Amino acid sequence: MIYTRFIGTGSYLPEKILTNHDLEKMVDIDTSDQWIRERTGIAKRHIAADDETTCDLAEHAARAALDAAGKKAADIDLLVLATTTPDKIFPSTACLLQSRLGMKNHPAFDVQAVCSGFVYAVSIAEKFIRSGSHQRALVVGAETFSRLIDWTDRSTCVLFGDGAGAVVLEASTEPGIHSTHLHADGAYEELLHVPGGVSLGFDIEGDNINDPHYTHMRGNEVFKVAVNTLGQIVEETLVANQLQKSDIDWLVPHQANTRIIDATARKLNMSKDRVVVTVDQHANTSAASIPLALDVAVRDGRIKRGEKVLLEAFGGGFTWGSVLFTY
Ligand code: UT7
Repeated sequence: MIYTRFIGTGSYLPEKILTNHDLEKMVDIDTSDQWIRERTGIAKRHIAADDETTCDLAEHAARAALDAAGKKAADIDLLVLATTTPDKIFPSTACLLQSRLGMKNHPAFDVQAVCSGFVYAVSIAEKFIRSGSHQRALVVGAETFSRLIDWTDRSTCVLFGDGAGAVVLEASTEPGIHSTHLHADGAYEELLHVPGGVSLGFDIEGDNINDPHYTHMRGNEVFKVAVNTLGQIVEETLVANQLQKSDIDWLVPHQANTRIIDATARKLNMSKDRVVVTVDQHANTSAASIPLALDVAVRDGRIKRGEKVLLEAFGGGFTWGSVLFTY
């Protein structure tokens, strides 16, 4: 049996920090540090510099993950990058990153599943490795989500930030990833979307569409579906692996809102000290949020070898999914 193990993690946040107090001065209708903290748990977010791209953030995180794994770029034979904010329409940001890292020939491609992108990307890489066709994958979640935000719209701008996280995955006879679970339901398109696009264009009118270049979200409705759906994916993962809730050592959830994270943790009966929360530090970084949180908890020594870790994500599409692994 070929398993897939996590052998290195890395992450990167851009230098510029935007606090809740900064946002109090920027939005059209009032917001406050107190409202943002109480409703989301977020204290600040990092914003890419004007000349800094998703690939720049991804490169920092990828190099850190390779160092942590003790591997060189030449040791990698698959690169999967999850992003909703690619540098260019094409080539893919994965191809740009491959070239930056001095790699050649092996497959490199982007995955677009918004906030679930990293879980999708890990799941895809795991299937390549388990099939025996590839040995070692670099999997990255990277976003400059700030570029999809109307910074005067308080209903969305307080929630998002920029960042990148990466992992190196390797074939092994020891577990490794136990299972991955992916889902989508495109019927929820209107609840969370950027209305414009390459094919549709940006000349779009409709209810609540102020500017089709930016993220539009019916937050409260997204919140309710997210809490229900994340509860279901946790249950599905436990049943598939014949595990009890108490068998899970660490929950590393998508970092969107501490109230969503708390609700999922309650369903797992997990105490707060077994749940990795970094959303207060960087807000929702979409596909980067899970690898950012994972890297923090691996580097500060919380997540140890042999422990069972559950990653779970929910995002635009809607898409959702989970990865259960022994670290
Ligand atoms: O990664 C997946 C993508 N997104 C998410 O997971 C986000 C999911 N949604 C959420 O996190 C929450 O729904 C929000 C944080 C977006 C909003 O929290 P809520 O508790 O669902 O608030 P609400 O939308 O029901 O709004 C409550 C009030 C409203 O005012 P009224 O109608 O009660 O007078 C909003 O207009 O809060 C108002 N409000 C704000 N007030 C101050 C909305 N945004 C703000 C703001 N500052 N930034």
